[in-house]
Amino acid sequence: MKIYMGEDYKGMSRKAANIISAQIILKPDCVLGLATGSTPIGTYDQLVNWYEKGDLDFSKVVTINLDEYKGLSGDNDQSYRYFMNKHLFDRINIYKENTYVPNGLEADSKKACQEYNDIITKCGGIDMQLLGLGHNGHIGFNEPGGAFEKETHCVNLTKSTIEANKRFFEKEEDVPRQAYTMGIKSIMQAKKILVVVSGEDKADIVKEAFTGPVTPEVPASVLQLHNDVTLVGDRAALSKML
Ligand code: F6R
Repeated sequence: MKIYMGEDYKGMSRKAANIISAQIILKPDCVLGLATGSTPIGTYDQLVNWYEKGDLDFSKVVTINLDEYKGLSGDNDQSYRYFMNKHLFDRINIYKENTYVPNGLEADSKKACQEYNDIITKCGGIDMQLLGLGHNGHIGFNEPGGAFEKETHCVNLTKSTIEANKRFFEKEEDVPRQAYTMGIKSIMQAKKILVVVSGEDKADIVKEAFTGPVTPEVPASVLQLHNDVTLVGDRAALSKML
């Protein structure tokens, strides 16, 4: 595993964006696996900045996002599709039809997940998967549990996730109870993996995930078995790795 450190959030974001840029420049029609959450926002801002300067071209890039809430449409400002449009897709020259996010409006979970697995296969797999890291070690919506879930599946959100997310909604009842997420196998099949972490509150889980035992109780620990993982963090998040 390669580890790169930025002094702060901005420095970390710049390093992560550099790695993604290199991927796009080396393979203009690459398939990028993308994530939402607060950590990658600075990375997306930096990519947009380089695009605006004429240094990056997204016209042949295909993106496949990790997850989406079940029941939310792309117009809902809490949906992950909305997040991606706002932070990245609406700001660069990517073709929207080349951007994939699980279909939150598909009520039939089996169908939604099968369709998403088929999309990943049809795109020829993922060249580089960007991941954030949850405080409990989750990646995508793959929460700690007794086994690694393999492909795209529907998850019941835990009480703590619903609790954490309710601040974004008017009422707690509006918080989705389920989500579609890529599975561990889909993530592990990406050719390269780029994990971004920021903040002191991530230091313990970064250490546990990347130096502790490989266990479904810490889903990100499985990344230790991948042969091309790059971890990019700020000094605070990497403090226990140094
Ligand atoms: C986002 C996702 C999540 C986040 C994780 C970290 O698509 O799947 O696993 O990456 O919850 O979130 P932040 O970056 O907000 O700490």
